[in-house]
Amino acid sequence: MYIVILGAPGAGKGTQAAVVAEKLKAAHIATGDMFREAQEQETELARQAVSYMEKGQLVPDEITIRMVLERIAAPDCVNGVVFDGFPRNLKQAEALDEALVEQGKTVDKVVYIKVSETELLERLSGRWICRQCQTPYHALNSPPKTPGKCDRCGGELYQRADDTVETVKERLRVYFAQTAPLIDYYTRAGKLLEVDGEGGVDEVGERILASIGGSLIGQRSRG
Ligand code: AP5
Repeated sequence: MYIVILGAPGAGKGTQAAVVAEKLKAAHIATGDMFREAQEQETELARQAVSYMEKGQLVPDEITIRMVLERIAAPDCVNGVVFDGFPRNLKQAEALDEALVEQGKTVDKVVYIKVSETELLERLSGRWICRQCQTPYHALNSPPKTPGKCDRCGGELYQRADDTVETVKERLRVYFAQTAPLIDYYTRAGKLLEVDGEGGVDEVGERILASIGGSLIGQRSRG
């Protein structure tokens, strides 16, 4: 299955994509994480991406699309992928469609996690991330068992440089201008599943899995 998780910065895409990928035994591809990992390793990709990320703007399509198309050709993607943070504009969505069609595949469903702007700002200001495995935590809503340490791998937790008030404002502006039109794009394709993203992490996760499961049962009974 090829699932896209769509939503504004802080909507919970990373948190929920990990849950969905585990459940579906699919690969989890998070473009933001890929860029941040490249920064840790100080690669050429990071050099190209960092100035855009710092400003809260999208990394140019030619860099991002090439990176994702290379990644989906890896063996762990044959059973499916959960995309988190990609596609982020129409050009990326069309590039993904074309690449999957070439492999006889398609984006099956797009989960749009809907969260109010007040809640987004609250979530981003309290977020902490594991430097090693990228697991997100929240100071109040989902704190780690040991302060400053990742429950999963023991890695060091840090706050993202682009989670400052000014950069978050720019990320939201970019989201509404460039990414939100994908809601229409996937609605027209009959693939969009809108899920209320407010409530606890587990509660939202259950809604998402129920929504994907329900839509597939509906598809099979029509087919
Ligand atoms: P990226 O890393 O993708 O950032 P984003 O889209 O802004 O999304 P976030 O990671 O901020 O939020 P999220 O929705 O994953 O929420 P999370 O689960 O962490 O991209 C960063 C940058 O990279 C971009 O600005 C751009 O420069 C570049 N980039 C990436 N992809 C690109 C692309 N395709 N094209 C071009 N450039 C690209 O949750 C947030 C917080 O809330 C956490 O603390 C979490 O613990 C908490 N939380 C989650 N769910 C709940 C809940 N239900 N209740 C309470 N708290 C919750």
